[in-house]
Amino acid sequence: MDKKFKRTLVTTALPYANGPVHIGHLAGVYVPADIYTRYLRLKGEDVIMVGGSDEHGVPITIKAKKEGVTPQDIVDRYHTIIKDSMEELGISFDVYSRTTSKIHSETASEFFRHLYDKGEFVEKTSMQLYDEQANQFLADRYVTGECPHCHFDHAYGDQCEKCGTSLNATDLINPKSEITGSTPVLRETKHWYLPLDKWEPALSKWILEGHKEWKTNVYGQCKSWIDLGLQPRAVSRDLDWGVPVPVEGAEGKVLYVWFDAPIGYISNTKELLPDSWEKYWKDPESRVINFIGKDNIVFHCIVFPAMLMAYGDNYQLPDNVPANEFLNLDGDKIST
Ligand code: MF3
Ligand code: ZN
Repeated sequence: MDKKFKRTLVTTALPYANGPVHIGHLAGVYVPADIYTRYLRLKGEDVIMVGGSDEHGVPITIKAKKEGVTPQDIVDRYHTIIKDSMEELGISFDVYSRTTSKIHSETASEFFRHLYDKGEFVEKTSMQLYDEQANQFLADRYVTGECPHCHFDHAYGDQCEKCGTSLNATDLINPKSEITGSTPVLRETKHWYLPLDKWEPALSKWILEGHKEWKTNVYGQCKSWIDLGLQPRAVSRDLDWGVPVPVEGAEGKVLYVWFDAPIGYISNTKELLPDSWEKYWKDPESRVINFIGKDNIVFHCIVFPAMLMAYGDNYQLPDNVPANEFLNLDGDKIST
């Protein structure tokens, strides 16, 4: 069914500012989005293309530690490199911003607070690994140990790169802190969870019944996630780099990067159009298209839409989420 839309908002996945943009990103996300946007512009349609750098998350803090600089130094360096590459390549963004901007932290913070005030989160305490020498909780990537499945001895706390199994850091045998090399202890910590199970019927109706036209890889992944049953997801982390959790008693906690980053699409739009951004997001006659890489499907098709539904206030769900496979060369990822 071809619905008539009055305007289009094209978003492009926000690249992590911990390395330069590579050809896989360009071929999979930025060039297709640029072609699509230029096409609509040529037809005289109302269209904007927004993007920016994803500047939070654990890998940036790890890189900073390794180099002995601050996370801000890292993101300043790579944001500039990425932004310049996009310009030189002629990717015609209407705005290319960053998640360390003031408007973004205000927007993300308000978004969390609104869900919190509406009672959309579940608060849970759990045991997580803590490094007593560094005095901090260890994000999954900061813990290595033996994989409980294949017994590879250098698995990460979130995934074993040998057998591909996704893990919880507490599953690792003989865990070791990547910061100090010491053996971490278990400590209790509180986090906020978005109950995806609550949104499962709505997501199922919207995607599985309403968007059979999506690309088969996207539709198929959504279907298998939904068929497996959706679980509550933590949207905060114990970390000192990111947007602080705007709740009393949440010192040392920040918004999880995958909660924070997609809100960047909203703050980028606000930065571009301070007075009229809302019509691109909240008018049913607006069409939102998220260009992404295939690793980002669950966050764009399940998690972010659940966040938007939980927020309410007429936020529109994307009309399409074109996700591309990586560019392959002789059967290998070209980035390798
Ligand atoms: N930074 C993520 C990645 O490179 C993509 C984030 S897309 C977002 O995989 F919009 F949600 F930010
Ligand atoms: Zn393994």
